[in-house]
Amino acid sequence: MGKDVIIACDFSSYEETFSFLDKFQGKKPFVKIGMELFYAEGPGIVREIKRRGHKIFLDLKLHDIPNTVKKAMSVLSALDVDILNLHAGGTVPMMEAALEGLTRPDGSRPLLIAVTQLTSTDNETMKRDLLIDKPIDEVVMHYAGNAKKAGLDGVVCSPLEAGKVHEKCGDGFLTVTPGIRFADGDAGDQKRVTTPLKAKELGADYIVVGRPITAACDPVAAYNRCIDEFTK
Ligand code: C5P
Repeated sequence: MGKDVIIACDFSSYEETFSFLDKFQGKKPFVKIGMELFYAEGPGIVREIKRRGHKIFLDLKLHDIPNTVKKAMSVLSALDVDILNLHAGGTVPMMEAALEGLTRPDGSRPLLIAVTQLTSTDNETMKRDLLIDKPIDEVVMHYAGNAKKAGLDGVVCSPLEAGKVHEKCGDGFLTVTPGIRFADGDAGDQKRVTTPLKAKELGADYIVVGRPITAACDPVAAYNRCIDEFTK
């Protein structure tokens, strides 16, 4: 898969989602389905978006004991999405179990990537709430190394960390990066943000963009702006 923009469809209903996607007439953007939409509408919405020809990143960020994650991944594998994820904080055995559950009898499987530290987390919150004293980039690199060791295909990280992750884990190890804002946009609750152009320069493979597109007056124009900055 090449460089692409993934739209975070953080909606709470079928109607909202399709009235948004219908604006793209003919275009089939890569979409991310997160917890909000999946919990609201269930697996049916994944099948419908797939049927309409979109690539899908199902962002459910699993984190539980290895056996539970393995079984959940085996159920999710049947949805035939393109990318799935989990929290690297669940440890290497959990990630290995996930991969096992995800792999179908014929050996095929969706890509599996790990969340390192959320882009809403910074050094201060990590130290205060998680009792992690190491600098955030060191923690992100360590978690990326664990994901690679477990056999995963890449990580979700900040674009600011994409280059370092490639240095450590190789160019083929995917970096999928949220925390994207236009230069003239609002950061909201995201702390480690950058623009689509800067994300490209930093070597991100995919950018995940939510509110800068979904809350724009003209979402299609905002998407095209992302594509222009990031892929051209
Ligand atoms: O609206 P915004 O562009 O901030 O949306 C970013 C999306 O990426 C959200 O769906 C959020 O859940 C997701 N995400 C994130 N940070 C991560 C992993 C996923 O912001 N580390």
